Amino acid sequence: MNMWAEHPGTDEWVVVLDFGGQYTQLIARRVRECQVFCEILPYNTPLDQIRERQPKGIILSGGPASVYELGAPALDKGIYELGVPVLGICYGHQRMALDLGGQVDAAQNREYGRAELEVTAPNSLFEGASATMPCWMSHGDLVRSAPPGFQILAKTLNTPVAAMADPARQLYGVQFHPEVTHTPFGKPLINNFLKTICGCKGDWTPANFARASIEKIRERVGKGKVLCGVSGGIDSCTVAALVQRAIGDQLTCVFVDHGLLRKGEPEEVQRLFTQNFPSHLIFVDAKAQFLSQLEGVTDPERKRKIIGEEFVRVFEEHAGELSDCRFLAQGTLYPDVIESGTPQAAKIKTHHNVGGLPDWMTLEVLEPLRFLFKDEVRALASELGLPDSLVWRQPFPGPGLAVRVMGELTEHRLHQVREADAIVMEELGKEGWLRKVWQSFAVLLDTRSVGVMGDQRTYQNPIVLRVVASEDAMTAEPVELPWELLTRIAHRIVNEVPGINRVLYDLTSKPPATIEWE
Ligand code: XMP
Repeated sequence: MNMWAEHPGTDEWVVVLDFGGQYTQLIARRVRECQVFCEILPYNTPLDQIRERQPKGIILSGGPASVYELGAPALDKGIYELGVPVLGICYGHQRMALDLGGQVDAAQNREYGRAELEVTAPNSLFEGASATMPCWMSHGDLVRSAPPGFQILAKTLNTPVAAMADPARQLYGVQFHPEVTHTPFGKPLINNFLKTICGCKGDWTPANFARASIEKIRERVGKGKVLCGVSGGIDSCTVAALVQRAIGDQLTCVFVDHGLLRKGEPEEVQRLFTQNFPSHLIFVDAKAQFLSQLEGVTDPERKRKIIGEEFVRVFEEHAGELSDCRFLAQGTLYPDVIESGTPQAAKIKTHHNVGGLPDWMTLEVLEPLRFLFKDEVRALASELGLPDSLVWRQPFPGPGLAVRVMGELTEHRLHQVREADAIVMEELGKEGWLRKVWQSFAVLLDTRSVGVMGDQRTYQNPIVLRVVASEDAMTAEPVELPWELLTRIAHRIVNEVPGINRVLYDLTSKPPATIEWE
């Protein structure tokens, strides 16, 4: 078990057992919005590990499998005997029904999307709900009959057991998805489960998390020194603030200019840092080192690996210059961990600070935000008194512009994407869009298209504009920017950035795309 999850600043711990559902992270977010700390663990986590942590509640997620499939994911049935409340959602609901003697069938009419839920029996799970309400369904199988001892709580037109409970054993199941916003009563239902059924107080607050993290850092680091890589983004600055509170001037920060930063960024970060942090900052110009390693590399995963390794090389070099520096603090977040691949989640990309760490690294990694989502980090940063200009800075990936230049990285191509990016930021900034969107940036493609400029044929690369709204980067939607703003940006880019003759707007959401292009 990871130490940060063991010391989240509360004694209340809820586990979400992951059956591979697309909404598992959303379940975790909804639980945390009720100020209850929870962690996502694989469905087959050994019972002893769960029992040891004395959870206040267990939630079984949805999943793509059918309970009747060969090798369908199953949990240790001892979970139902722990005396801890369990809530099964979708696959979790079907799993519970089948495990305890109910009947699960393939649905004749598969239910996807909105359905009308009718609450048929009173129960604390539905406390405060109206008799009928919309809910979100996404299932092929359904529970035909509830197991012995269970009462049916709700139904829909096509689902006879849309919710069930055995209050004596504190076992609950819902076929619909309370974690998605399309189920308006979903959040109150999760809150009822946590507060009324599990008896959670809901004391997981940014202040408690900060206090516990600071204590933990102090305990782990002792009298030693810590090096913290800062990028000027909210994650690394929040880590620096936590570590600074914990160990004062035993902390040294290091900012690496890898040549993949945005226009004016190295200067801006130094200014932001000096204004807000009392710690010592080492500024490293490693442009030549990174770019020479990346020469000729076009594969996205290779780029990420190389950048991750070079970061560590620079950090180790500077840690070596400080006496007794064993630790490297960095701002890894929960989505970085999830998307770099866990036993249940497929690897999407190697986030530079997770899967990119080389075996030869000697520094121990300190990652106090490893279990937090971005909006939780923002709340923590405000709690720590960091200024709004920092708290609301748009995220920028560690590998920087390298993952926004498709194909080969050259000084010229980096210059093109950097100039285009500066135009996007300037134009969105003028009209107050920067705070309203999650991220806005330019991507340089490696295909070419024909154009005509000043009566001459051109055969040049396009720039893609990517502007997305998101809550936590796990999902995202393209932003409907005013047409006039989009065309002004396009006009400026083709006129001001050499070698660009076309501008496209990316209309894809995540999923199926990701926010960055590589
Ligand atoms: P994707 O492209 O995976 O991005 O949808 C999700 C969020 O993560 C940022 N991102 C990264 N951040 N190191 C980081 O620190 C990385 O390797 C990395 N890759 C993507 C991305 O900008 C978006 O906010």
